[in-house]
Amino acid sequence: MIVQPLTLLASMLAQITVSGLRVEYLTNPIGIDVVQPRLSWRIASSQRNTLQAAYQLQVDTSEARLARDANLLWDSGKRASDASVFVDYGGPPPVSRTRYYWRVRVWDSSGRASAWSPMAFWETGLLEPASWTAGWIGPPPSTADSLPAPSPLLRRAFRVADRVRSARLYVTSLGLYELSLNGQRVGDQVFTPGWTSYRRRLQYQTYDVTPLLRSGDNVVGAMLGDGWYRGQLGFFGQRNLYGRRLALRAQLEIRYESGRTERVVSDTGWRTSPGPVLTSDIYGGETYDARRELNGWASAPYDDHAWAPVAILDPPAATLVASMSPPVRRVRELRPVSIRRAPSGETLFDLGQNFTGWVRLDVRGQAGMTVTLRFGEVLDREGNLYTANLRAAAQTDRYTLSGKGREVYEPHFTFHGFRYVAVAGLAAPADSTTLTGIAVSSDLAQTGSLVTSDSLLNQLQRNIVWGQRSNFLDVPTDCPQRDERLGWTGDAQVFARTAAFNMDVNGFFAKWLADVAADQDPSGSVPWVIPNPLGGDSVRFAGTAGWSDVAVIIPWTMYLTYGDRRLLERQFPSMRAWVDYARRRAGADLVWRPGWQFGDWLALHSDDPSYPGATTGTDLIATAFLAHSTDLVARTASVLGHAEEATMYRARFQALRDAFNREFVSSTGRVGENTQTAYALAIAFDLLPDSLISSAAGRLAHDVESREHHLTTGFLGTPYLLHVLDATGHSTDAFALLTQRTYPSWLYPITRGATTMWERWDGIRPDSSFEDPGMNSFNHYAFGAVGDWMYQNIGGIDVDAAAPGYRRSRIAPRPGAGLTSATASLETLYGTLSSAWRLDRDRFTLVVTVPANTSAEVTLWGARVDQVREGGAPLNSRDGVRAARQRGPDVVVEVGSGRYSFVVTP
Ligand code: BGC
Repeated sequence: MIVQPLTLLASMLAQITVSGLRVEYLTNPIGIDVVQPRLSWRIASSQRNTLQAAYQLQVDTSEARLARDANLLWDSGKRASDASVFVDYGGPPPVSRTRYYWRVRVWDSSGRASAWSPMAFWETGLLEPASWTAGWIGPPPSTADSLPAPSPLLRRAFRVADRVRSARLYVTSLGLYELSLNGQRVGDQVFTPGWTSYRRRLQYQTYDVTPLLRSGDNVVGAMLGDGWYRGQLGFFGQRNLYGRRLALRAQLEIRYESGRTERVVSDTGWRTSPGPVLTSDIYGGETYDARRELNGWASAPYDDHAWAPVAILDPPAATLVASMSPPVRRVRELRPVSIRRAPSGETLFDLGQNFTGWVRLDVRGQAGMTVTLRFGEVLDREGNLYTANLRAAAQTDRYTLSGKGREVYEPHFTFHGFRYVAVAGLAAPADSTTLTGIAVSSDLAQTGSLVTSDSLLNQLQRNIVWGQRSNFLDVPTDCPQRDERLGWTGDAQVFARTAAFNMDVNGFFAKWLADVAADQDPSGSVPWVIPNPLGGDSVRFAGTAGWSDVAVIIPWTMYLTYGDRRLLERQFPSMRAWVDYARRRAGADLVWRPGWQFGDWLALHSDDPSYPGATTGTDLIATAFLAHSTDLVARTASVLGHAEEATMYRARFQALRDAFNREFVSSTGRVGENTQTAYALAIAFDLLPDSLISSAAGRLAHDVESREHHLTTGFLGTPYLLHVLDATGHSTDAFALLTQRTYPSWLYPITRGATTMWERWDGIRPDSSFEDPGMNSFNHYAFGAVGDWMYQNIGGIDVDAAAPGYRRSRIAPRPGAGLTSATASLETLYGTLSSAWRLDRDRFTLVVTVPANTSAEVTLWGARVDQVREGGAPLNSRDGVRAARQRGPDVVVEVGSGRYSFVVTP
């Protein structure tokens, strides 16, 4: 490789910088309880092909001492290593309530050192149960404990005598809590403490409340809501599934300049009173009477003698864990796109987007007047709000005015799945300020973007993202509107790969997988929904192929997409327990005949099993997923260095593969019921002998073509369909299915105005009638699992499974279906990975960026090496181009980090 003099000069001058410091999944986290946190950083360099050769980490509890670089708590010294993601902290074990400052610098492969990174920190929470001295407090017991009741207010006055250096508030609750200090809301999180397997794990949050304290009289106040703990939950109309009495545990720790510390904890010194929230239920909505507001209750001075003393409750059995995933927050505001009168007489607001959240009401009127707000996703034929598909979820807020001028109201402990709001009781004509949509979601960083030259595909991508945003609300729910909204495992596993493109879901799923393991049955069976409020046992509401495999598939997906080896290690016992359980459910011949299971849920005409060619047997599906999960457990064992288990599970996978072929595959490649899903699973899970793959794929393609490029797949077949067609030389069929606009297809709902993914292919049938209201959500992300194929094939960006976390990537965009351009980017843990291509007649241009400390394999389909230029010059003369070769009809270029611009001309 000839190094140009300019390149040499550039490399001598090039700087490498370090930034984006992260601890576990968070930036500068407060209140974590990981005893050996993992540190990650990003390297940037103007020079191509930048690789880290060494790093030095420094940690200390004093920012000043760290800056002086003297007598530090821990200094790794210069360590020869190319690791820059999930590097274990190696210093003395952290102690509770302590902030650790850290910084890092690196050396590249030519020995050039970076400057020290900006400082970052992590702060520990309460690492030992004994660190908690606060009690569990709540309203005195009442006969109404199991019924909807006003949200209790709790308050505690206290004095601050000295100058405060810092103050932390550690909080959790049974039910939901909202906190304030001296009348100021503490934090911007909602639905705290979050939803976990409450009987085993309960999160607490830590807040830096230093700025909210003042000298003299102070007040800490809390309001509690039913939430998932005791509100209506599940589709059996039940409530109190976790408990009947709400409780708060709060511990305020004040550190004074003098060095003295003081605690204000939840104890008998608190007082309680009902407040303006008369009822608040996640499914039902909130009823709020502003005339009952107790102004100033959370500040001093306030006369609370009429309040009742709180009761002390027994501590719950659950273990308290620090929340480690991004919290739920208000993430977007939406203005009405139209306001009109509905035939029902209500004022109908269209927010233009189906989403999860609530509305901010801004009204004036007389005291006692009540504004009723009903929420729904679609309108019926008459143009009224359609709510039949909400089933037993009322999704209705009621606000009674105090009559004091302008009144602005947002609910506290409920969320709705909706696009439209039907309002009754407004005193004055509505305008665009009357209602504002507030979208709430786990506040996950958006990491991916995909834009193509096809507006319908762009809408599909938006619908997938909004579906994710709507349903990733502390747990991955199936839907946000009806009396369900549960952590359905099958939906999460099929969507996880797509989810990891769109947003940073590492922490989100790490939290949820801990609940998967916590609610897993001792037998190894995994419940249908996590957290599991439904109860059941190893088979009732549990142990279902494709759903319970979440225990294996998502840890593996997080390893592939983030390189999160520790999560894999943590989940390994749970992963093994599931495949061992399922193995026991299978027969001696290794075929699992489970009888009724969800199977390929909502495949075409799933309500009519006699419909030809769309119903795949549950035995085929169960055996296929058992084999696939066993394969992943074998790979996991080898990644973790468990050689014996790796050998054992690999052998078991092979045996399952043989059993699958014996039972479901003919000698000419016909699989099972000859359905698209049967072929998709058999090929995607590597279950067929090489000799049969092309005939099986041919049968699949034939089925697709014979249906004029329509799919028949359900929840389990859909995620693999396009991947399998594409990987077996049927890309044209894959693109034809993706861009199909008539039912069933991904784009048909968009032609009917969808702004999120539908649960069914025909939520609104071609004749405009609605599908069965008993199960017809317009915001289910399961069919959005096609998103990963769009990123990987249209955008062309993917991870190399041999180098997880995008340490090495594959960039291979494939124009199809008349697309002329696409841009895809992904914020990986190493930095931005992107690809942008244009096809102008037969000139193909591709610009890629590859983060420092990583590399990529770029594939240019249907090109010859001599037809390709990078930066206007032949490939092998280019800096950063490590290798370029012809692979059959395609050109493969190995590149280091940097920005590259390829042009292929005929
Ligand atoms: C849920 C789905 C779930 C399915 C399993 C439905 O009620 O909404 O998300 O996967 O049940 O049967």
